[in-house]
Amino acid sequence: MTRPTTRRKGIILAGGTGSRLFPLTLAVSKQLMPVYDKPMIYYPLSALMLTGIREIAVITTPEDQAQFRKLLGDGSQWGISLSYIPQPSPDGLAQAYLLAEDFLAGAPSAMVLGDNIFFGHGLPELLASADAKPAGGTVFGYHVADPERYGVVAFDPDGKVREIIEKPAEPPSNYAVTGLYFLDGEAPERARAVRPSARGELEIVTLLESYLADGTLTVERMGRGFAWLDTGTHGSLLDAGNFVRTLSQRQGMQSGCPEEIAYEMGWIDADKMAEHARTYGKTEYGRYLARLISHPH
Ligand code: DAU
Repeated sequence: MTRPTTRRKGIILAGGTGSRLFPLTLAVSKQLMPVYDKPMIYYPLSALMLTGIREIAVITTPEDQAQFRKLLGDGSQWGISLSYIPQPSPDGLAQAYLLAEDFLAGAPSAMVLGDNIFFGHGLPELLASADAKPAGGTVFGYHVADPERYGVVAFDPDGKVREIIEKPAEPPSNYAVTGLYFLDGEAPERARAVRPSARGELEIVTLLESYLADGTLTVERMGRGFAWLDTGTHGSLLDAGNFVRTLSQRQGMQSGCPEEIAYEMGWIDADKMAEHARTYGKTEYGRYLARLISHPH
């Protein structure tokens, strides 16, 4: 399934304090926590790779950067390019566009939060259609039972998006905005106009509002055939791991496997894949990679 590489660049926002997972995250970043057999960041990274994005910046706290580098390197092992940008303090999601302005150099972007996990038949197609939109932005609305924990979409009676509200006490709908944002090359410039909110953060919803006001924001519904998993509490982190385990045991297929995506995209060849398989040795992960060379899906 070799796909054309997009001009769009990727951002993984993987900073923050991880305080909701203390004491787990006192010494190790949240986005490095295990989700069954892989570090959490593999999953959002895979979403960007599935989009065809090969140039990605990983934003982390200054202290955690070394560990992310150790895990992910420069990306060449997967035929991609990874660079690292420190975020000195967690001043809000929209700040990512200011920090990444030089990296983006005017290119459109897809930003994913390092703790967001997506699955679903048709995900590559959904990502491809967001990528194909030449200007403006696309975000995804997902029906959840507890919208008050997220950015929430308010619809007009005719179904048009009226507003996106961060963690409303009284949610106007059950549609949460997921942590995956496709924005055009204007995002850094628009982010500069975002002022800190009452809680002192540069809010992503304020940046999205600026696109919405211009009529250039698409909210794509991510239907019930998709899973958007939460890792925000100890329980949901464990549930996400169990979900991944159930799926991979039943199907004999991996999700969030950068080697597999790189191989299927044609970014690494069979020799490189065999090298990866040897690195992982006798683990199920290593055996899986070896099998992909002889039995691609
Ligand atoms: O997961 C989707 C939700 O993510 C959206 O629905 C919300 O609109 C959006 O604000 C965000 O809500 P959260 O409550 O999850 O935001 P949180 O502050 O926890 O940050 C999300 C992740 O981004 C978290 O893993 C830490 C990281 N982060 C956060 C901030 C504020 C950073 O790396 N830097 C930051 O400055």
